[in-house]
Amino acid sequence: MKTMTCIEDLRQTYHGKVPRAFVDYCESGSYAEQTLRANRADLERIKLRQRILFDVTNRSTKTTILGEPATLPLALAPVGLAGMQHGDGEIHACRAAQAAGIPYTLSTMSICSIEDVAGAVDKPFWFQLYVMKDRGFVRALIERAAAAKCSALVLTVDLQVLGQRHRDIKNGLSVPPEIRIKNIVDIATKPAWALSVVRGKRKTFGNIAGHIRGMENVNSLSVWISGQFDPALNWKDVEWIKSLWPGKLILKGILDVEDARIGVQTGAAALIVSNHGGRQLDGAPSSISMLPPIVEAVGSDTEIMFDGGIRSGQDIMRAIALGARSCMSGRAYIYGLGAGGQAGVARAIEIIRNELDVSMALTGVTSIAEIDRRVIAAM
Ligand SMILES: Cc1cc2nc3c(=O)[nH]c(=O)nc-3n(C[C@H](O)[C@H](O)[C@H](O)COP(=O)(O)O)c2cc1C
Repeated sequence: MKTMTCIEDLRQTYHGKVPRAFVDYCESGSYAEQTLRANRADLERIKLRQRILFDVTNRSTKTTILGEPATLPLALAPVGLAGMQHGDGEIHACRAAQAAGIPYTLSTMSICSIEDVAGAVDKPFWFQLYVMKDRGFVRALIERAAAAKCSALVLTVDLQVLGQRHRDIKNGLSVPPEIRIKNIVDIATKPAWALSVVRGKRKTFGNIAGHIRGMENVNSLSVWISGQFDPALNWKDVEWIKSLWPGKLILKGILDVEDARIGVQTGAAALIVSNHGGRQLDGAPSSISMLPPIVEAVGSDTEIMFDGGIRSGQDIMRAIALGARSCMSGRAYIYGLGAGGQAGVARAIEIIRNELDVSMALTGVTSIAEIDRRVIAAM
């Protein structure tokens, strides 16, 4: 892993090791992928301000996220099907995050279940909730997350209907993978992946399988899931969820100032400025372009997190400079997971932390608290 010196190295290795359908699932954005591209392009446009001759000997990337200590302002984002990128992928990613001292978020759409992960790690993790039409099932999921001592509930609010990703449809993406001729050839050339997935605890959605009556076989499970996202979801449901969840609630998928203001009124502990990694409303603004107005409107009332396009420590610095308290990473750690399991995720976090540390030195700051607009170059 030491020869992997940047996230792009992990990405290329990932592409060579994981079957095409799952790589496409990770890399895709919705429709024409304009928002996916804007997330990266707008981050890259922000230039950092080179400063010199400050004593930067004693630097620290340490901070707090929702009041808990973290070694850098980063959490791993919820990513569905991580256990198909590498067998037991959710457990590997959670262990790497916890060893690095940052939060991990388990997706509702994970392969390993809440209980599988809780049984395999030492510390609490966050659980991400999709609200489904079957409210009895949603209530049960919240209770399971509480029983597993999850330390925050991340409620995703930007997926009432699913943005279309062309490649998933063309690939016939299914869980477990559909055995088509072209898949067989692809999988045959990815033996390490196949072995890890075969050895993994589960081959289907661990939080859902076995918990829905009459949904024992996987075909009906996939049909059930696609029909389950709830277009009727509204702010009253957020209140209902808050009444059921005893701990910290985070709203994920805020991209509008008006929504941020309403979000704060729910008493949420944090809002995540996010467009779902460019996977939902194509044509929506980049996440980073909406961060400053949202911080300006509600940043003094609640903790603002950011995701969308983070591929380096420099990107974290850009988001913190524009007012985020911390960031989430999705694809960057999935590249690490596919490239090398737990060690690959650990390496992704280490690369990003080192880049942040060096960027701090070269912009003349020694602590996360000092990072503000002064580290951005006037253009
Ligand atoms: C493959 C993939 C699966 C995802 N699955 C989920 C999910 O299950 N729940 C969720 O709230 N967000 C999901 N997201 C969105 C991420 O949590 C996050 O918002 C996004 O990846 C951030 O952008 P980045 O990938 O550029 O870092 C997913 C993203 C990707 C790339």
